[in-house]
Amino acid sequence: MTHRRPLRLVVLISGPGTNLQALIHAQHAGELDAEIQAVFSDHIDAQGLERARRADIDARYINPADYDDGAAFDAALAQEILVYDPDLVVLAGFMRILSPSFVETFAGRMLNIHPSLLPRFKGLDTHRRVLQAGERFHGATVHFVTKDMDGGPSVIQYRIQVRTKDTATSLKDRVSQGEHIVLPRAVAWFAEQRLSVNDGAVMLDGRQLMQPVLVEGEV
Ligand code: GRF
Repeated sequence: MTHRRPLRLVVLISGPGTNLQALIHAQHAGELDAEIQAVFSDHIDAQGLERARRADIDARYINPADYDDGAAFDAALAQEILVYDPDLVVLAGFMRILSPSFVETFAGRMLNIHPSLLPRFKGLDTHRRVLQAGERFHGATVHFVTKDMDGGPSVIQYRIQVRTKDTATSLKDRVSQGEHIVLPRAVAWFAEQRLSVNDGAVMLDGRQLMQPVLVEGEV
């Protein structure tokens, strides 16, 4: 039997990169059979770039101001990513809406982590909106990326109960802890060839997921 090569991973970030760090930890702990080939950021001062450098990963900044528009930026970014021949691209706090052609290039091999229980609360500022809506539950979702923003098929969710004392900041912290569990788990499944998507259907261990795998956080 030939040994499967470690998953070639490229991670896109815009900010702190705590999810990137969780992936690096999982890899170092032997829980994720992957090699992070490169980390790209559209922000020069993203802390995640520093995390990548410290882990000896190529840290690449691409300046959106160097391109005429979003589509030109995305085309250049896609070319740069393809140089690394990735099996999987992970959007871990990459705060740009990607063009359809970018999404097409990485169809079936791009995951995003979003801080809400999708399909509820797509878009920005989810923690404040969840509080305002008086929701009982909140969390995070890992999903395959399609042209439909925050709308691609979900793989795994982390769910917590909203507490009366919660603020947007406390919710962000609580959700973030769970993100660091579910993102490495989904990426590990993909690396182990247990996870795929076909025509919008998510397959895990040979069975179609009718709903995302649910991980309950502390109550
Ligand atoms: C996370 O909340 C993620 O769900 C969202 O952006 C945030 C990134 O945080 N897409 P970090 O940069 O990984 O710390």
